[in-house]
Amino acid sequence: MAPSIVLSLLPLLLVSTCCYAQPLEEGFISGVISDKGLEYAKELLIEKGIASIVMLQLPEIENSAQVPLVGNAKVVLSDITIKDVEVNSSSVKTGESGIVLVISGAIANMSMRWRYTVSSWLIPFGISDSGNASVKVTGMQVGLTVNIRNQEGTLKLALLDYGCYVGDLSIKLDGGASWLYQLLVDVFEGDITSAVEEGISEKIKEGIMNLDHFLKSLPEQISLDKTAALNVSFVGNPVLSNSSIAIAINGLFTGKNEVLVPQRYYQKGMKISAACGGLQKMIKVSIHENVFKSASLVYYNAGKMQLIIDELPDQDILNTAEWRFIVPQLYKRYPNDDMQLNISISSPPVIQVTYQDIGATIFVDITIDVLEDGEVIPVACISVEISASCAVEIEGNNIAGWLRLQTFSAYLKWSKIGKLHVRLIQSLMSSVLKTVVLPYLNFKLKRGFPLPIIDGYGFQNAIILYNHPWIMVCSDVSFLEDYYLGQQLAYVS
Ligand SMILES: *[C@@H]1O[C@H](CO)[C@@H](O)[C@H](O)[C@H]1NC(C)=O
Ligand SMILES: *[C@@H]1O[C@H](CO)[C@@H](O)[C@H](O)[C@H]1NC(C)=O
Ligand SMILES: *[C@@H]1O[C@H](CO)[C@@H](O)[C@H](O)[C@H]1NC(C)=O
Ligand SMILES: *[C@@H]1O[C@H](CO)[C@@H](O)[C@H](O)[C@H]1NC(C)=O
Ligand SMILES: *[C@@H]1O[C@H](CO)[C@@H](O)[C@H](O)[C@H]1NC(C)=O
Ligand SMILES: *[C@@H]1O[C@H](CO)[C@@H](O)[C@H](O)[C@H]1NC(C)=O
Repeated sequence: MAPSIVLSLLPLLLVSTCCYAQPLEEGFISGVISDKGLEYAKELLIEKGIASIVMLQLPEIENSAQVPLVGNAKVVLSDITIKDVEVNSSSVKTGESGIVLVISGAIANMSMRWRYTVSSWLIPFGISDSGNASVKVTGMQVGLTVNIRNQEGTLKLALLDYGCYVGDLSIKLDGGASWLYQLLVDVFEGDITSAVEEGISEKIKEGIMNLDHFLKSLPEQISLDKTAALNVSFVGNPVLSNSSIAIAINGLFTGKNEVLVPQRYYQKGMKISAACGGLQKMIKVSIHENVFKSASLVYYNAGKMQLIIDELPDQDILNTAEWRFIVPQLYKRYPNDDMQLNISISSPPVIQVTYQDIGATIFVDITIDVLEDGEVIPVACISVEISASCAVEIEGNNIAGWLRLQTFSAYLKWSKIGKLHVRLIQSLMSSVLKTVVLPYLNFKLKRGFPLPIIDGYGFQNAIILYNHPWIMVCSDVSFLEDYYLGQQLAYVS
């Protein structure tokens, strides 16, 4: 294979990548891998590739030749093993039609065993010998072009072109006769070169096939808990531009035991860019506010937004005696009875991503129940509209939220114990919201939901940008082993 073959992979791509990138199709979570991310992925792939090639054993080579003054030599090279590979330079380029990875100036060290038998009329019983040799391959070029497409919700990797070209080869014999050395150089060099080229090419094919299997094995849904799953099916084809790869997934929450949440669409043609407010990050994950809306709807529909409170920091409030002067009717009817609050969300929370944070409007009905002789008697219900802002943070690989109360308004929905004073309602609600409802919601939100990222890798130095109606997480990615190690060290010290 000529070196020009590897290099000829490039022009194929670079056609028509100028100036216009097609829009990404509708997905509610999208990821853009920047050139910095591609560089990282490339290093990773090369590392994996080298690991798969080191200790690769090439097939035995057998040949025979007439050697002057010696006779007919039959030579076998066996145990041809690639010991080590060093890559001098490499590059990754993306274009509309695929991704090209080129490695150039690679060096490989190999070891092998040789043995020969010579027969000639001079030596009727024949002579034979065996020993070791080392081979050094320099100026090796490796290249491949892959394309990535959506196939029914999963990504399909296609190897369009690939090859390996060996520049120079030098052989060092341990022992052996000088005619053998010459024979290896004259007759076997080509065989060894092809064996290396074919062996490595085969490994590339195998590696891409494994990667393709891996992509195919990615789940289409991530189960979050008993109620919800996250739809991580890929939507549309990845969009390759000259400096980034953009991928979109559906990204909506779906209920486990119910029909689909209706999808509200947004305007198509989202502009793809890896821009992160001037920061160079490997990936940018954009999350549409519909993702949060779908989560709110799924949990609301599953009736998971309900809470019974029979304990408060100020426990006296939950006894009618405490209310005796404020709501005399209540005390008269149910003297000295314990009470509980039944807090239930009365309609799906309205969630909106703004330019600063996430705004949430939560509607709750707080029913005051009296507990009398094991019976729960609802006596009044207060409707509260809570306005909160939610700051988003990255916890490990999860995106989690933190609600802060902004304002609330409350009114009496119904009452069997007469009118309640507005001021009483306000101060009771303020206390309940601050000490119970928000801490409870924050506890739930703290777990967050996982951002789709490949197993074993984690976000590092993530920052969050708000850009209505999207939230963007810009981050570097690192192998989690480092992270775990860091954690362990933190425990030790
Ligand atoms: C990508 O294409 C744009 C538009 O043609 C160009 O300005 C930019 O320099 C290119 N980037 C790279 C890394 O080639
Ligand atoms: C190959 O072997 C030589 C000497 O045995 C050594 O100096 C060199 O670093 C090795 N190169 C690689 C790529 O392993
Ligand atoms: C590595 O590549 C550079 C330029 O691409 C070249 O000057 C250098 O000699 C190469 N080194 C080896 C060990 O091949
Ligand atoms: C050749 O190498 C093998 C291991 O690769 C070793 O066991 C053997 O002793 C070596 N032979 C000679 C003659 O050096
Ligand atoms: C998941 O998303 C894909 C792509 O948008 C869609 O075709 C599929 O119906 C969704 N699955 C569920 C269970 O919502
Ligand atoms: C709590 O109140 C809701 C209506 O606001 C009601 O549907 C539910 O049954 C009540 N739960 C309990 C345990 O009282």
